[in-house]
Amino acid sequence: MAPIRVVVTKPEYAKAEATFRAAPDLDIRVSDWPEEIVAETVREHRASAAILGVERYTGALYEALPKGGILARFGVGHDGVDKPQATAHGLLVANTPGVLEDAVAEHAIALILGVAKNLNPFVLAMHAGEWKPRLGFELRGRTLGIVGCGGIGRRLARFANAFGMTVLGVAPNPAHAAELRRDWGFAEVHTDVAAILGRVDILSLHVPSNEHTRHLVDADFLAKLRPSAVLVNTARGPVVDEVAVYDALVAGRLGSAALDVFEAEPYIPAAPGKDLRTLPNVLLTPHVSSSSVEACQRMALASMENVRRAAAGTYDAISLINPDVLAVLDVR
Ligand code: GLV
Repeated sequence: MAPIRVVVTKPEYAKAEATFRAAPDLDIRVSDWPEEIVAETVREHRASAAILGVERYTGALYEALPKGGILARFGVGHDGVDKPQATAHGLLVANTPGVLEDAVAEHAIALILGVAKNLNPFVLAMHAGEWKPRLGFELRGRTLGIVGCGGIGRRLARFANAFGMTVLGVAPNPAHAAELRRDWGFAEVHTDVAAILGRVDILSLHVPSNEHTRHLVDADFLAKLRPSAVLVNTARGPVVDEVAVYDALVAGRLGSAALDVFEAEPYIPAAPGKDLRTLPNVLLTPHVSSSSVEACQRMALASMENVRRAAAGTYDAISLINPDVLAVLDVR
């Protein structure tokens, strides 16, 4: 069988090069960004599939791929892909759930411990030749709020239990509450985030980015948290109003923010003069929570598997985000 022609964006290819190279049935072309270049590479290579990172795709790529082709996310979040546009062009959109939960939940724990143990100020001071000890805090006995109790939120709850934390969850579907309490270590599960805000020491976000979650964490939300609270975001930048977070941190209405994701990436301040990097009570990482060697290998394997299944027409086995495309393809 002729190899499947695939375009992979450069950062994703670099994260798992050996795994991509070891796929003899795929003819892979690596592409730079922005979208116009990815689209041009798809056309030149006559590719039917594109394996993509988190970037936003608004138009050219949907024109470039043939009907029945696939936009395969290397990862879970698919907010960068315009699903209605993909569906209208008969393109499958897929992601890779189930392979990066440990990586992201571990990163959330790293951020929480980093704040609790003052790692950011200590590292900065040591590198500046200064010796500036101060007190940290322990996790045992603290309350962690988890907003979004999917695979990542559940893993994080387990890890937090191991540290002796009490975990309060927020999940939109009340049908999941019993399972979350029984199997995943949540002490309570609520449908409304307002039920936990004033009770948590640390709040960690694990919701997708969409029109319902945009600026979920705004000035009103922050005002309901304890002034000592720690906000952790490994989900998506637009879920948090960074100007409101900056203002709350400066005013002492929020203890600390530990953020891996930002409204604009690479990070640029959301408003002039509101640069989070200038504040002492932040811990910032460059959208890397799923970027463990192991998770990247698994995301490469899973995204290539989605590509193969699209080419073979075995759509049921694909982790499909836009099932309505099957009607466009006359499959259902
Ligand atoms: C990473 O941010 C992902 O969506 O997988």
